[in-house]
Formats: sequence, C-alpha cells, structure tokens
Amino acid sequence: MEKDRKQNSITIAVTADLHLLANRLHDTGEAFLRMHDNGDGKQMKNGTRIIHQMLSDIRELNPDALLIAGDLTLNGERASHEEITEQLRIIREQGISVYVLPGNHDIGRPDAKGYFEDQVFSVPTITEREFAALYEEFGYGQAISRDPNSLSYVAKLSDENWLFCLDNCCRINGVPEHYGELSEDTMTWLFEMLKKAREIGVFPIVAGHYNLAYHNKVFKYGFTMRNYDEVGELLRKYNTVLYLSGHMHMQHMKFQSGIVDIATSSPATYPHQFGVLQMEHGNKAYYQTQMIRMDRAEREGFRWFYQNKFKWQVLNELEHKSNLTKEEKERMADFAAKMNLFYFSGHFYMLEAELGNSEEWALWIEKGNDIFFYSYLKSMIYDSMRNHNIYTDLIREK
Ligand SMILES: [Fe+2]
Repeated sequence: MEKDRKQNSITIAVTADLHLLANRLHDTGEAFLRMHDNGDGKQMKNGTRIIHQMLSDIRELNPDALLIAGDLTLNGERASHEEITEQLRIIREQGISVYVLPGNHDIGRPDAKGYFEDQVFSVPTITEREFAALYEEFGYGQAISRDPNSLSYVAKLSDENWLFCLDNCCRINGVPEHYGELSEDTMTWLFEMLKKAREIGVFPIVAGHYNLAYHNKVFKYGFTMRNYDEVGELLRKYNTVLYLSGHMHMQHMKFQSGIVDIATSSPATYPHQFGVLQMEHGNKAYYQTQMIRMDRAEREGFRWFYQNKFKWQVLNELEHKSNLTKEEKERMADFAAKMNLFYFSGHFYMLEAELGNSEEWALWIEKGNDIFFYSYLKSMIYDSMRNHNIYTDLIREK
C-alpha cells in the first residue's frame, strides 16, 4: 500500500549503525560474550531485541519513510543482512518506504564472523552487487537514478523532496577502506542529479554514512569523508542545506559552510534512540530524536554498562600516573564517563553549569592534562553547547 506522496508534510524516521548480528550466528556463549565485553559499549547481547523494538516503534509512528544510513550489520554477515531484510519487509508492507545505503561494515568484510561456544569462525559476507539485490525493495528498486559507479541513488520522497542516498564508503576491489570519499565519477553523477532537482524545483535531502562535517577535532580521520569540502561546495551550490549521517554512533549536529550535518546516534548504544525528520512544504525541516521504548530499569542497566566501559578505559590510562591517589583516579574516571555519556547522547549542554564547579574536572585540568583522554574531554567543552537532539530551520525560501 503506497501512501499519498502529494502531501505538504512528510515524516522520515532516521537511523544508522544498527550493527545487528543475526541470531543464527551466535549462541550467546563464551566467544560471543567475549566479543560483547571487548566491544565499544554497544548492546550486542540485546541488539536484536532493541532493533526489533525500534522497528515496532517506527511502525507505530507510521512515517512516510525510513532511512537507514549504513552499518546495518555488525561486520557484513550475509545472514545478518537477511535477518534485517525480513524485518524491513514488515515495515514496507505497512506502506512505509524504506531507503537503505551502505556503511563501512556492510560489504566485503573479511571479519564477518559467527560465535559459537568458545569458537569464532568466518561466515559469508556480501558483495556490492548483492547489497543492491538484497535491498532492491528498500531503495535500489525505487530509485529514479542510480550511480553506475557506486551504490549511490536518488529516490523521490514527495513532489517536493528527493532523497540522495550517497555511498561514500571507499572500497578497493570490494573491500572497505577505513575512510569515506566520493569518487570523481560519482561526483559527476551527483552534479547531474542535483542540476535536475533544481530544474524541476525539488529540494534535495542528502544522506551518507560518513560525515560531511568535522563534528569534533578528535574525530577527524576516518569519520568525515575525505573530499568533504568539494562535496559540500557542490551540495551547497544546488540548494542542499541538510545532510544526514551516522558512523560516529553519537548524536551530534554540526553546521559547516551553510550545511547542517545531523549525525544520528546508534540505536544499539545508550540512550537507544532514532531520529524523526519532518519536512513541510519541502523546505522547512524539524528533526527530533525519539527514545526506543523500553523498561526504565533496563535502560538504566544499559547506561551503567556503557558508562563503565568508558570508565575502565580511562582508569587504564590513569593507572601509570603517580601524581594521583587511587581515590582521585576513581573520581576522575567516573566524571569522564559521565561527560562522555552526555556528549554521545547529544546532551552535553546539560553539564555546562556542573563543569564550572566540578572538583573532578579541576583535577583533570591540574593533574591529568598530559593524557589523551584530557584532550578528548576538553574538545567537548569547545563544542557547541546546544541540544543536539532537536533541530528546526527553514531550509530555503521558495
Ligand atoms: Fe560506520
């Protein structure tokens, strides 16, 4: 059932970095738990359940479209892609269009693995061609244009908006590199499509897995696409002021040269949310995050897990510092984990007042200023003190 696309207002649910591992690829045994505990704080143990809940919340919200900006799977396992497409089909059957683009963890991964008992073993990944075939119903089959040089495409969201899904993941011989970039050929195709959009008076909404802006000076290499200035210049020239990305797992908005890059956090990471973008008359945008429904105690448990993961990393770095007592190290690590948690959830502005009076932060400045974590924590303070969970703006006067 297709929805009426001639309406003045359209709603798009936005997510990225699901990093789902198919249930049939693990037994929650020793090898899996080791991978989970050594990870970056993602809820791998409850990953499938959280993603199912998010998709159920999205069905209830009933938007016009769902955009998934890459990294659908943990490491490109074919079985994980198949499990996701089964779920996406249910969304599609409700009349919600689904648009998917690839992330650096979705295709040609040599580290696609299964985890049973204490064994880790290789499982099949997928090729670029297979990605487009698997997601035929979720963007590639609905495209009004596909880039012959990459997995980028353009789809019609409404009479007033086209969605540009850019494949800005660099792959050499089908294997992903650790950076994002748009090739010269893809830039030529993008230029042609942006020109067409302007000719018929539709506004582009552009999405890609890698970021367009430098969100944080510590997250530079490997996060922002390499030729961001060239891409940004082209997009701006053709009326683009909204870019949707992922990859950092952090909820963050950055204005750079007239374009806002909204990076949506990973649903697998605390506070477990997705974005909702509403476009009115094609040129007015409202974006707000929505928490995935879950029990309060469960979310608290996930917060504890995420916060502790970071705390132990900091404690590890502080271990060699002889100018600090054990108690000081403990307090500094606790506070650093709190800062990181607020920063990643896009709510760091809430800590601004507390920072000024914090004894722990004073300790960092006085005695912890020579370790890496200090520069990272300091970078948060120089970031914009805004709520990164809400955005509203008039994109362009008609
Ligand atoms: Fe990624």
